[in-house]
Amino acid sequence: METLLKVKDYKVYYQTLKGHVKAIDGVDFFVRSREVLGIAGESGCGKSTLSNSLINIKAPMIYEGGEVYFDGVDITKLDVNKMRTLRYTKMSIIPQYAMDAMSPTKKIKRIIFDLVREHDRKIAEEEIISIARGRFKEVGLVEYVLNKYPVELSGGMKQRVVMVISTLMNPKLLIADEITSALDVSSQKFTIEMLEEFMDKGYVDSVIFITHDLSVLYQIADRIMIMYAGNVAEIGTTEEIIKSPLHPYTKMLVESLPKMDVQYKKKKLKGIPGHPPNLLNYPSEGCRFYERCPVKINPQKCKLQKPPLFEVKPGRYVACWAYAEGEKGE
Ligand SMILES: Nc1ncnc2c1ncn2[C@@H]1O[C@H](COP(=O)(O)OP(=O)(O)OP(=O)(O)O)[C@@H](O)[C@H]1O
Ligand SMILES: [Mg+2]
Repeated sequence: METLLKVKDYKVYYQTLKGHVKAIDGVDFFVRSREVLGIAGESGCGKSTLSNSLINIKAPMIYEGGEVYFDGVDITKLDVNKMRTLRYTKMSIIPQYAMDAMSPTKKIKRIIFDLVREHDRKIAEEEIISIARGRFKEVGLVEYVLNKYPVELSGGMKQRVVMVISTLMNPKLLIADEITSALDVSSQKFTIEMLEEFMDKGYVDSVIFITHDLSVLYQIADRIMIMYAGNVAEIGTTEEIIKSPLHPYTKMLVESLPKMDVQYKKKKLKGIPGHPPNLLNYPSEGCRFYERCPVKINPQKCKLQKPPLFEVKPGRYVACWAYAEGEKGE
């Protein structure tokens, strides 16, 4: 299948008075056309930094290196104007907390109009509102929502509005950052179904779906990428990641998931001991999971050398020295 996005050795830091927070420190992955790539990992592992930076790098974020090919073009080299056109019309994002970030003083139709106009100066207001009206209908939102203020809408409705707005120009890639996290289970289900419908109808080609909730990814993702402290830990199909995780971190993450057949009162959830490292001025060498890792297959190497992503079988990647040729059984 065709590759829509290819990210190579990508680094994005935050500039602070105390130094650099190495939030994304050399990640490699790709997104195919017509697929949903799920990204999961603990709070602070860099999911939002990665997604926001792909759309727009702004202070205190700094680009530190690497390539991001979108439709064959390295967008890290594009000028501000080209990037502005690409953003929203070709690659769009629903940022984390987007539904609470909508301007409280603007009606929904004004929010839509301003956003579209920022990226496409030629399109007429009539046309924008007419597309929005059609999409609203499809997702079960009555037209008068266009004349409402965000505060007048329920959480589920706001999320639907945000999804319509972010896909109005039929972007090739949609990045959805924690769009189900603040919703109840039935709104979560509705949101996922809506996203699938948008893909079926061709309103979006590919989706990067970010959540800390692996059980949500099990429902929607074709493949999953697990991140740990600004690095990629593992990539595989959803089935592979959930049923046969390879990286010690993913194994612990999957074990900490509540299982349907477990009686909670009898068995406490495991959780993962320890904390992720503080990424301020953190060394780029060595494995970032080292301190918490129960395996440490080759302690000296694990501590000092960053494990690359080993392709253990086609399309299955693990950043752990335990999967290096000749390392097992040493
Ligand atoms: N503006 C900022 N300045 C400095 N450091 C930041 C800034 N924003 C985020 N960070 C740091 O960057 C790292 C990655 O944060 P990010 O928000 O990308 O994580 P996340 O995986 O999205 O977490 P969550 O699951 O809580 O949404 C964290 O260590 C965080 O403290
Ligand atoms: Mg986040």
